[in-house]
Amino acid sequence: MPAECTPSNSECIAQAARWLAEADHLLILTGAGLSAESGIPTFRDAQTGFWARFSPQDLATPEAFADNPERVWNWYHWRRTLIARGGVNAGHRAIAELARRSPTTLVTQNVDGLHAAAGSNPVHELHGNIWRERCPGCGCVDLRPIAESTDEEPPCCTACGHMARPDVVWFGETLPGPALEAAQQALERADCVLVVGTSNRVYPAAAIVDAAVRSSARVIELNPAATPVSSQVDCRITAAAGTALPALLR
Ligand code: OAD
Repeated sequence: MPAECTPSNSECIAQAARWLAEADHLLILTGAGLSAESGIPTFRDAQTGFWARFSPQDLATPEAFADNPERVWNWYHWRRTLIARGGVNAGHRAIAELARRSPTTLVTQNVDGLHAAAGSNPVHELHGNIWRERCPGCGCVDLRPIAESTDEEPPCCTACGHMARPDVVWFGETLPGPALEAAQQALERADCVLVVGTSNRVYPAAAIVDAAVRSSARVIELNPAATPVSSQVDCRITAAAGTALPALLR
């Protein structure tokens, strides 16, 4: 059984902090829970998660975009306004600081761009980036800055005139190879893996965590709720990321 703690259990945070400080190579994998304290809903939390209120089939598939691009684009526009309003939180900043202290590979399922906004670089984005548009016609991409005012309608590509789409990974689509490869390479050399704010339910991202718990690396999970891997990790911190991550630095 992993060491398990609550925010008041400083022993567990102290142990995780020691492992992070000792790490020769750290792999950090993040999910929607990291941005929850920026006021951005997660996907699967009961009541508040996006998928408790919206249907992924209507909003996050290529078929949905083909069927009704305005509806899909508008949902992403609304999410962009939430992200711009929320901005980075103490958890994003703490992760950027961790990566300055030790050799780190940062892999995220989040599309919000908040790791980069907090100063992390590079960020390996498994599910794309909501601030980037991609033209399915000519393939060109355009990364916009994080801003409250964004297009409410799908824009047309300035090069070829085709309707652009958000450069995110929808259900049924393939993950970007370079991000997956970066995660795979990091798994081979990481001696410590920190998994933050993900339900570990969406594959292939969850397979990275499955592989980490089978490896010899020390795996730390930071999540207020249990996930399918919680019983297999080496240290489980049951706290909010915005509180526990800064504590791990101290
Ligand atoms: P989920 O919504 O599935 O899981 C979020 C996790 O964050 C849950 O396990 C929560 O317990 C945890 N959590 C909530 N608040 C937290 C906090 N303050 N600090 C730390 N953890 C907290 O989100 P993901 O696992 O990221 O994909 O979801 C994976 C993918 O499923 C997303 O990238 C998205 C979604 O469908 C696509 O859209 C392709």
